[in-house]
Amino acid sequence: MASVTGIPENINGLRGSGEDEPLLGRRGDASQMEGKPLYLNVWIGTAPIAQAGIWILAAIVWGAIFSHNLIFFSSHPLLNSAGILLITQAALILQPTHTPSQKRDGTLAHFALNLVGISALLAGLIIIEINKAGPGHAHFESPHAILGLITYISIFLQAIVGFTQYWTPSLYGGVDKAKAVWKYHRVSGYMVATLGLATICAASWTDYSLGVLHIQHWAVIVASVLVLVGLVPRIKLQKLGLKKEEGRLRLNSE
Ligand code: HEM
Repeated sequence: MASVTGIPENINGLRGSGEDEPLLGRRGDASQMEGKPLYLNVWIGTAPIAQAGIWILAAIVWGAIFSHNLIFFSSHPLLNSAGILLITQAALILQPTHTPSQKRDGTLAHFALNLVGISALLAGLIIIEINKAGPGHAHFESPHAILGLITYISIFLQAIVGFTQYWTPSLYGGVDKAKAVWKYHRVSGYMVATLGLATICAASWTDYSLGVLHIQHWAVIVASVLVLVGLVPRIKLQKLGLKKEEGRLRLNSE
């Protein structure tokens, strides 16, 4: 609504910035505008950098797999890189939401993208375990295998906490207590994403990649760094219980 001066009373609301601000940049730099569709969230702010990184990463893996003979194992990297791509979209779509209705719609999209992404990762795990079944195959030995196992465990825990805090808050002692867990879910979400990217990078050092696929280490590392460079500046400090003040970060006591 416009005031007597003709200036809208809630400029922040119109700009879509709300009360919160991203880690880098100003309020509204990566906030969903009122009335704008949810899917645009995967492109605003620094998201194009993250998109470039994750699509290049998936293209490197898929390109390497499809330029060699397809074997039963091939679906492990295909499914896992697709899974990480979907999980990245799940983060990108939710980050800019800030009003209650945006957060609700964003959470549903976040859930759906994570559900498909985690199902792909689970299928990738089943494939590699069938592939390595039988004597003579050491399990969880290489850096990639160890990082992969940690990624799987943390992604599944992350998903269980995310699902229950939203749909069954009574497990945490009520909605307010469940909401208090959200900021930890957010912080650990970025850690899990980093682990997933590190696992893909480590895959370029597996014997199969060194001997057959020849995935370039530098290429997967640069692509993964791009994903984080695009994701991190869009983090909303308020959602982590932090506030930016005179160039400094402080814990938000509200
Ligand atoms: C985030 C995505 C990924 C996760 C979570 C993941 C996870 C895993 C895990 C847990 C294992 C070990 C299974 C066992 O020892 O029983 C494994 C093995 C393997 N993965 Fe992945 N993987 C991912 C992506 C990829 C990609 C993109 C490639 C592409 C080359 C790949 C190549 C391999 C190979 C060659 C093995 C067998 C060698 C070994 O066990 O060290 N993985 N993966």
